[in-house]
Amino acid sequence: MPNAPERPDSKAMFQNVTPRIGKKCLSVIALRGNEQSTGTGLKTVIITGGAGFIGSAVIRHLIEHSDYHVINFDKLTYAGNLESLKMVADHPRYHFEKGDICDHRLVKNAFNEFQPCAVMHLAAESHVDRSIDGPADFINTNIVGTSVLLEAARHYWSEHGAGKTFRFHHISTDEVFGSLGATGLFDEQSPYQPNSPYSASKASSDHLVRAWSETYGLPVVITNCSNNYGPYQFPEKLIPLMILNALDGQPLPVYGKGHQVRDWLYVDDHARALCLVMEQGVLGETYNIGGHNEMKNIDVVKTLCRLLDDKVEQHPQGVTRFEELISYVTDRPGHDKRYAIDASKINTDLGWAPQESFDSGLDKTVDWYLANREWCDHVRDGSYQGKRLGLATGE
Ligand SMILES: NC(=O)c1ccc[n+]([C@@H]2O[C@H](COP(=O)([O-])OP(=O)(O)OC[C@H]3O[C@@H](n4cnc5c(N)ncnc54)[C@H](O)[C@@H]3O)[C@@H](O)[C@H]2O)c1
Repeated sequence: MPNAPERPDSKAMFQNVTPRIGKKCLSVIALRGNEQSTGTGLKTVIITGGAGFIGSAVIRHLIEHSDYHVINFDKLTYAGNLESLKMVADHPRYHFEKGDICDHRLVKNAFNEFQPCAVMHLAAESHVDRSIDGPADFINTNIVGTSVLLEAARHYWSEHGAGKTFRFHHISTDEVFGSLGATGLFDEQSPYQPNSPYSASKASSDHLVRAWSETYGLPVVITNCSNNYGPYQFPEKLIPLMILNALDGQPLPVYGKGHQVRDWLYVDDHARALCLVMEQGVLGETYNIGGHNEMKNIDVVKTLCRLLDDKVEQHPQGVTRFEELISYVTDRPGHDKRYAIDASKINTDLGWAPQESFDSGLDKTVDWYLANREWCDHVRDGSYQGKRLGLATGE
């Protein structure tokens, strides 16, 4: 961010962390028989939206690869699913707190009780088609909710002595930059030009975070990432929707001609990048995260079909090859043509690079959905049954 006031060195900041953990977390630890004693190097991170696709990947990563205590603060909307966290649910360093980020009192209590050294803010309404049908929830959660969190963080940071030991990591999307032409990449200086209610609400939240940093000196870092894919993604998004529709012998709806280009990143690579930025990102800075995997939507769908042809022994009745199920449907209004990320800053400054290629990541993803039909059935038991959303028909 240009003209940002001088910030303390973030690595030094984390080395100087005063161990602290909230009352509730301590009681959770005591209840679960953790042998660590009070205040001996314990560090707590609040993850908002931890029951969602990316949040749950971040939590699984932090539990497996760090010694952080992790508080998952999530409202459990249709997109939040605690089954994605079954493997860490009983871990002594994990605690779930049900709550809405728009609820001032709950958010304030969470800061006071858990005394976090960092917040990773992922909670959001995240599906573009839903934002076209009903923008209000996006404005409420993504903008108002972020402002509630920022205010609670500011008071906690300035009044409760968190001082240098605290940072607010805001997780955002490349969609805030709008649409690219045939060439070029989004970098950290790209102007904001959001085109959907979703991306406009995320852009607004980015601006709020930046303003809280500039105006109040709140220690923040922001990341903007490209399209994620991988296990535990809610099956309204392109890749899981196509896999599950194909397995059910249902049409594979491709918007327009499917020529929109997205830059795909495997979710565990994103989770690693986020944890790195949370710990080592320079305060006041923004980092773009992407996979250097540009693909047209139609090519993604055809690749999935080929993978499924190879992996699925018995095709649905009447289907010889899954590609036969592709069906071209009316394009999304305001559909961005191309996104692509220049991730050289996070690579050069923090040493992050994706570990999965698109082929290896997609292969793992398809295997995961084939092996986890129960998870898919459970998340689809709710109101969403794979129907078309986002045509802006005013219904
Ligand atoms: N999925 C992507 O490809 C992608 C790419 C870049 C950035 N992002 C950003 O990453 C974040 C996470 O995305 P995701 O795909 O995991 O989303 P998701 O929709 O899978 O999960 C969102 C989570 O937030 C929770 N939530 C929603 N409203 C809430 C509220 N008011 N209070 C508390 N919790 C609430 C939901 O219950 C859910 O668990 C979002 O901020 C999104 O904008 C996503």
